[in-house]
Amino acid sequence: MSDSSFTPRVFSGIQPSGGLTLGNYLGAIKRFVSMQDEAFETVYCMVDLHAITAKFLDPATLRHNTRELAAGFIASGISPEKSILINQSQVPEHAQLAWIFNCVARMGWMQRMTQFKDKAGKNAEASSLGLFAYPALMAADILIYHATHVPVGEDQKQHLELTRDIATKFNHDFGVDFFPITEPVIEGAATRVMSLRDGAKKMSKSDPSDASRINMTDDADTIAKKIRKAKTDPDALPSEAKGLEDRPEARNLVNIYAGLADLSVDQVLAEHGGAQFGAFKPALADLAVAKLSPISGEMARLMDDVTEIDKVLARGAEQAREITAPILKKTYEIVGMVGS
Ligand code: TYM
Repeated sequence: MSDSSFTPRVFSGIQPSGGLTLGNYLGAIKRFVSMQDEAFETVYCMVDLHAITAKFLDPATLRHNTRELAAGFIASGISPEKSILINQSQVPEHAQLAWIFNCVARMGWMQRMTQFKDKAGKNAEASSLGLFAYPALMAADILIYHATHVPVGEDQKQHLELTRDIATKFNHDFGVDFFPITEPVIEGAATRVMSLRDGAKKMSKSDPSDASRINMTDDADTIAKKIRKAKTDPDALPSEAKGLEDRPEARNLVNIYAGLADLSVDQVLAEHGGAQFGAFKPALADLAVAKLSPISGEMARLMDDVTEIDKVLARGAEQAREITAPILKKTYEIVGMVGS
């Protein structure tokens, strides 16, 4: 089935399990912003139901994180006039469709999810059932909107393949053409931003070392200090991308530069090839501060009085339910729920 019969619609989400990182910004949010102005309806979500799968946060912290994430979206350029902004738990059809998908997805499919294995670690028996079922809820997030395109970083690729498998199996089992086969959108120089302390590890809000990441709320001095201290090798930058192949830390900093400046890696190297890190790091720090400071300033302003954010999320939930309620109703009809 092609997705051509479906309205082009974008859905994506971020967990309010901690603060936003530069990885979230370059891998996901920048693309969220640009897709608003393309030929798509766009829906962006704070996935608070996902944020409790690893552990329950302190309730005040979860509420704060969710609002701060909404502030981060808006401050980065996501306009509530152009996009629907929602908090997942306030649109109950996500969780309702997830139950149906729990009954579509197979145990074997879920057991192959590398993020579950990574997050559960050695003690899978002690992890929550929610963590195991996480990807089925993610599929429901997407398919409850009949979303055709999902912008994400590279780490979400396997989850999006599972989303396609769930849609295909549902359509096949019920003999319908109901759910679209969603396209992942994984694009740009920084689809996998790595830790500043270890080029083999993803930059993550859950890394115990704060120096490993740039937080979207970091001030200019902190950003500059973290970049200055970022792990590198002793060599100068190469003049072509091929020269970065076995240099994960150098490659990461060049990718970050490219992502922030909207340049290709080759364009960055055409300008900075031959430079030592002593010169490149300050250039990167200046660029990062120039791009990120206006965002953190606007986030702080929005967080000063959260009524504006709460209004945006309440309106978003109403708009979202105009899309999700009919799709859930039709799903129930297909499955055979009486009274739907
Ligand atoms: P989460 O909250 O871990 O990350 C949100 C988005 O940021 C991207 N990302 C990165 N990109 C590049 N480099 C990094 N270091 C980096 N770290 C994070 C992620 O790829 C993601 O796009 N399961 C999702 C949330 C989710 C979702 C959805 C996404 C729930 N339902 C439906 C899309 C559609 C997650 O944990 O993202």
